[in-house]
Amino acid sequence: MNDKGSADLLIEGVGKRFGEVVALDRVSLQVAQGELLTILGPSGSGKTTLLKVVAGFETPDGGSVKVAGEEITSLPPARRDIGMVFQNYALFPHLTVQGNVSFPLEMRNVARAAIDRRTAEAIAMVELKGYERRLPRQLSGGQQQRVALARAIVFNPRLLLLDEPFGALDRKLRETMQLEVRRLQRKLGLTTIFITHDQEEALVLSDRIAVMNHGTIQQVATTTEIYERPANDFVADFVGESNIFHGTMTEAGTVALDNGRTLEVASRLPAGRKVGVLMRPERFSPGGANAFSGEVVEAVYLGTSFKLRLACEGGMELLVRQPAKGSLPATGARIEVGIEPDAIHVF
Ligand SMILES: Nc1ncnc2c1ncn2[C@@H]1O[C@H](COP(=O)(O)OP(=O)(O)O)[C@@H](O)[C@H]1O
Ligand SMILES: [Mg+2]
Repeated sequence: MNDKGSADLLIEGVGKRFGEVVALDRVSLQVAQGELLTILGPSGSGKTTLLKVVAGFETPDGGSVKVAGEEITSLPPARRDIGMVFQNYALFPHLTVQGNVSFPLEMRNVARAAIDRRTAEAIAMVELKGYERRLPRQLSGGQQQRVALARAIVFNPRLLLLDEPFGALDRKLRETMQLEVRRLQRKLGLTTIFITHDQEEALVLSDRIAVMNHGTIQQVATTTEIYERPANDFVADFVGESNIFHGTMTEAGTVALDNGRTLEVASRLPAGRKVGVLMRPERFSPGGANAFSGEVVEAVYLGTSFKLRLACEGGMELLVRQPAKGSLPATGARIEVGIEPDAIHVF
């Protein structure tokens, strides 16, 4: 059995078509050893296909996959030493927890004593001690996903791939499991790709996030970078709440928006450049350099904040978040807010 442990992953120019559908359009991506990288994208963006190519369940039309520098593009799945967890558990229904978790070791003809020891370790690691003799149907959804996780890590895989593993769990349990995966992944130093369409999950879990759309990677960056400095409209809009406008840089270091408004910005992009601007709702405050006066068209109380939709001059609509102090502004009320130049991201 291969026991070389966690490795780095290099995906280069991987393409995959299904008839007319381009599921992957020359995707390149690097995951460092011990890193947890999340692939975040809407349904149908190619996330699962990419993971299947890495695991060996789909053959790419072109490109290569390397693990620890070794090309694995044409290796059968069973010889790649990659642990996988899917959304729909995929446990063997007739096998106990013990049987499910030990299965990868049995497949690899590991010695009996080692199987027992490593299975017990993996079961303890996902906190299922005492459940060894249960069948999957005697477990909750969260417990079943822990079994799947133990089965994926028991053979000391080179990579761990998780495809929306907590999609079927309720919010509270999902949050617990996210922290659990993070703890385990760090402890074992496992190179991990985690797929999700949930931006909050991606922000909680990741060292870095790769945002995907239409079979291409839009941006790969740290969580802060993705949120604060998205590369384009798609990323800005998909991750977090946003106010996005378009315009042109001017000599004076401002942006002349297409809607007629001028914004003071901190960007040093050259005059004449067509740009997008992103203003996050929580970056507005009373006062500030770029002042807006708007009529409240929608006001929602969210516990710690008020979420307001403002209709401003020139038909400009803004989504603004304010700390929930005092009473919720009434619809029709007029509100003044501003945003500092360095709080506006220009791309
Ligand atoms: N086996 C297949 N046959 C035909 N089309 C497929 C197949 N697998 C995926 N696709 C298509 O490829 C695109 C990407 O799918 P997928 O990788 O599953 O996206 P995601 O996991 O991001 O939701 C979708 O348009 C999907 O319909
Ligand atoms: Mg999928």
